[in-house]
Order: sequence, then structure tokens, then C-alpha cells
Amino acid sequence: MLEHLTEQPADKILALMQAYREDPRDNKVDLGVGVYKNAEGVTPVMKAVKAAEQKIWEAQTSKAYTSLAGEPQYIEGMIDLVLNGAVDRARIGAVTTPGGTGAIRQAMELIQRTSPDATVWVSNPTWPNHVSILNYLGMKHKAYSYFDTATRDVDFAGMMADLANVAAGDVVLLHGCCHNPTGANLTLDQWKEVVALINEKGAIPLIDIAYQGFGDGLDADAAATRLVAGSVGECLIAASCSKNFGIYRERTGILMAIAGDEKTAKLSQGMLQFLNRQNYSFPPDHGARIVATILNDAELRKMWEEELEETRLSMLNLRQQLADELKRLTNSDRFNFLAEHRGMFSQIGTTAEKVEKMRADSAIYMVSDSRLNIAGLNDKTVPLLAKAIVDAGV
Ligand code: LMR
Repeated sequence: MLEHLTEQPADKILALMQAYREDPRDNKVDLGVGVYKNAEGVTPVMKAVKAAEQKIWEAQTSKAYTSLAGEPQYIEGMIDLVLNGAVDRARIGAVTTPGGTGAIRQAMELIQRTSPDATVWVSNPTWPNHVSILNYLGMKHKAYSYFDTATRDVDFAGMMADLANVAAGDVVLLHGCCHNPTGANLTLDQWKEVVALINEKGAIPLIDIAYQGFGDGLDADAAATRLVAGSVGECLIAASCSKNFGIYRERTGILMAIAGDEKTAKLSQGMLQFLNRQNYSFPPDHGARIVATILNDAELRKMWEEELEETRLSMLNLRQQLADELKRLTNSDRFNFLAEHRGMFSQIGTTAEKVEKMRADSAIYMVSDSRLNIAGLNDKTVPLLAKAIVDAGV
């Protein structure tokens, strides 16, 4: 049996992680996978997470199964964190998932079960695993224009023109904030136009929100998701706690299905639990319990929000430093977009050849689509990257 297996395409982000590990050069700079690193290059366990783990350790008397949906306090806390009352709770079905990827996977399976002919529209570009999962499940998908490689901003006219071809019942996948990989985001007014078009077409939005708190702040980053969820009949939301709680390996996410009415929400809840049961039964609990503990304890919550805010500001600061250094080296404003982008990533909009040149000549590791992880930088590596960008002729 096993000899009939074929090699699977490598995920370009994970392949880059491996190549970086194998590079013996001392001066190598990892701007690949989306993991936050502080100025010392460490991905710290957040203080509130440590404190919550201690509380859990002291109080927990059993590791028996919870429920197929996961820990209720986590579900309620996350619905509140993401939606803050934008939608009547009775219209929301929700389950804990293994990370944001688990939520995306379950969302796709839900769509496939209930609407097998739907096309899922994804931004061009999008997180590569969106497309990979769609292909894996054999689902129909199409790309809509998103990034203008000349301005490094959203190609909004192109996006709206493409979304005008969406059919009733199709699903439009949108990044709630901090677009991955580009870093370019819609304004709130543009979001309003997108929602109006989605409603006019009778399409269903699927929002992937994996970086809440990394862009303009916890509430500002959720504003678009709240707007969409509050203005449409149905909506799916996949949220991740990997980045904003820094609990990557704990695999902590949530999938919410917002239905038109309470009766349909109950059906959705049943389906989400069924999907959990078929795929992995009970979702992982430890990360969800950490999040629930933090969100329900005023002191821990404050500690978490403060550290998250420091993280966010440090990335903004690095963005500004990089834009300033490139301005100095090129005597132009053409890299100002780096300071305008939000979240962990920016796509600098250059060719795979130039990305490869930066890796070969300067040991700079960024994804071949020219996405760089801002949080992989520090005061010392900003000038190195800026020089490498200029030397590669970007
Ligand atoms: C990324 O885009 O780098 C992260 O979301 C990590 C991943 O799983 O790809």
C-alpha cells in the first residue's frame, strides 16, 4: 500500500523554515514563518499565559473530556473578543478547533457538505494553505484581485470588478485584518462596499481573523469582522489565538457559524460538533483553557492586553525604521508602504529571483512571494535587510 504514495508539494512557508535551519551562516535573518520574535529573537511565552497556566495547574483536578464544542468559557470569551455583541448570540454556532487552520479546514468542510457547488473566492494572493486545503478537499475556488504590486496597496477596483462575478451561494474568503501575505488592508469604507456587494450577490463571507491585536489594536482589528457579521444573513468566522496569545503550538482556534435565525444556528452548532467528532473528536483543551482564564480574570486580561500592545507597537516601530532606512538609501518614498501596512507581514512585491538573491548574497530568508515577517527583524537587522533590498535591485 504505502509504496503507492506520491510525494506531496512542500508548503513554501514550512520549506523555508527548514532551509533556514540548515543554513550554517551566522548572519542569517529569518523573516519566514509568521511567528512573533522579540528584539532578542525569542518567541516568548506571554506573562499572562504563564500566570494562567499556573492557575490552571493549581486548580485542575481532572483531564477528562470536555465537550465536542470545547470549553464553554473559551467559546463565550472568544465570541465576545471577536464580535463584542455585533450579532445576537442566539444566531451563533461555535466550536473550538485546533488552531486557526483547524477552523479554516472545518469551515471548508461545512461549506462542502451543505453547498457542494459553491465556489470559494480567495484573494490573490492569500495564505497558501487556504488554496492547499481547497485543493485537498477538491473544492471549486477562484481568485479575486487584491494586491497592486505597483502601489503595494489594495487593488480595490480590481477586487470589486472580480467580486461582481460571484454567484449566489458562493463563499468569499476575507482576511479580517492584517492581510497575510501582503500587509495591505481595506479601509472601513471599502469594507462597507464589499459587504454591500456580497449582500447584493447573495454570497456568504468567510472571515479568517488570525492577527487580532497585531494591526491597529484589539477593537480596531475586529471592526471589519463586526461590521460584516452584523450586516449579513449568514457568515463564517475562523479565528486564531496562536499569534495574539502567543500559544502557537497549543493549537487554539474557533470556528463561528452565524446563521439567519436561532433554529438554523442550532443546526449549525450540531454540524460543527459532528465535524469535530469525525475529524478529531474533542478539540485540544489546554490553549483554550489558558485563553478562557485570561479573558475571565481582570488582572490577567490587563496584563495580556498590555503585552499584546507592546508587541503591536514594536512591529509598528520596526516598520517605520525599515521604511526610514530605505528612504535614506534610495532617496525616495517608494518603500513608505512598509510603514502603512499592518500586521506581521508585508509583501515587498518583487520577483522570486530577487528574493533568492537576497537569500544567497545576504542570508535573508523571506517567502518566495516576497512576504517578510516584520517581527523577525530587530534594530541590528533592519539596516541589513534594507541594504539587501537595495542591492538586489528591488
Ligand atoms: C504563516 O503564514 O506564516 C503562519 O500562519 C504560519 C503557518 O502555519 O503558515
